[in-house]
Amino acid sequence: MKLFVTGGAGFIGSNFIRYMLNEHSDIEIVNFDALTYAGNLENLKEIDGDGRYRFVKGDICEYEHVKSAMQGCDIVVHFAAESHVDRSITGPAVFVRTNVIGTQVLLNVAKELKVQRFHHVSTDEVYGMIELDSKEEWVEDSPYNPRSPYAASKAASDHLVRAYHITYGLPITITNCSNNFGPYHFPEKLIPLAVTNILEGKKIPIYKPGNQVRDWLYVTDHCRAIDLVLEKGKIGETYLVGSQHREYTNLEVARMILKILGESEDKIEMVGDRPGHDVKYAINASKIRRELGWEPEHDFEDWLEKTVQWYRDNEDWWKRVKSGEYQDYYKKQYSNR
Ligand code: NAD
Ligand code: DAU
Repeated sequence: MKLFVTGGAGFIGSNFIRYMLNEHSDIEIVNFDALTYAGNLENLKEIDGDGRYRFVKGDICEYEHVKSAMQGCDIVVHFAAESHVDRSITGPAVFVRTNVIGTQVLLNVAKELKVQRFHHVSTDEVYGMIELDSKEEWVEDSPYNPRSPYAASKAASDHLVRAYHITYGLPITITNCSNNFGPYHFPEKLIPLAVTNILEGKKIPIYKPGNQVRDWLYVTDHCRAIDLVLEKGKIGETYLVGSQHREYTNLEVARMILKILGESEDKIEMVGDRPGHDVKYAINASKIRRELGWEPEHDFEDWLEKTVQWYRDNEDWWKRVKSGEYQDYYKKQYSNR
């Protein structure tokens, strides 16, 4: 089985490639990634020299390149995207280009090459937000209501994927997952930003009022869910993936990180809120549990501690990531809040 993985040099894609090569001896993987600011081949250094793996630097919007690289592949697993909500607020155009047009190019090539499966990796943000005092949870057919340019571009990509199934019979599956955390998470996102800021002697910026809620899932649990959907998922179906642990507010997460690192709460800095901030996400993952036997195996608090330790042990990785373009981004994002 030969997989064409897009965005495999990013956070979840690199964890997925490592996971699949460990779990399946008979697999081959082509990793097609443009190496944007978020793509980093260092995330895959452990598999250097593995004969089952090949990297191709390329842009998913470039039809001819995608077509030549996808030749001979059986399954497409599509991670490549612009993924950070704050960047989508300051610069939405590239989100439409990559997440919408790029997905359409991939779908067209997959259709022409008659791949056996096109698996689209999407997000719970397409459903919008839940009020803090509500017990609502999203299910697969909850109405779409994206509220940020990022979420809107991912919603558009989900619709295109379904349209290619209905109109052209392309064999697709979709997963919409909650917030992931773990190794190689780019330090613009809350958990790695908080941990690395503290390790650098800085504060953790928390968007006011800090009571917003996310459903955090350890990245390997997400990778296993995708693997199961590839193996046993029904063509044309969508599966929601989330941990459904107790609710943690952003302030609680920041306090937990400070406790693990032995620092006091005065290291939290309340800053101006994100425009259009979705206050809460909540997934009901019963369908994938019931139909495919998936369960999250990593407890949030234990694995947050292990993740913090990973950042302590891999200072070279995040220090390199936090140099260059990151410095300009950080200044623009946090200086006037
Ligand atoms: P990431 O930003 O860490 O990685 C994105 C990768 O895509 C990078 O390697 C980048 O170089 C590549 N890429 C970007 N534009 C490209 C292009 N035009 N052509 C080829 N490659 C390109 O993202 P992530 O957090 O690993 O997310 C991966 C996927 O999972 C995304 O589709 C995202 O929407 C989805 N998702 C993420 C989360 C999360 O919590 N991070 C949760 C649910 C779903
Ligand atoms: O729900 C899945 C989504 O989770 C993915 O689709 C996205 O790709 C991924 O980036 C993530 O989106 P969020 O916006 O939830 O993640 P982020 O880490 O940016 O923010 C998590 C919460 O923390 C959110 O409520 C905003 C808040 N936050 C974030 C940053 C960067 C802060 O309070 N301070 C910060 O500096």
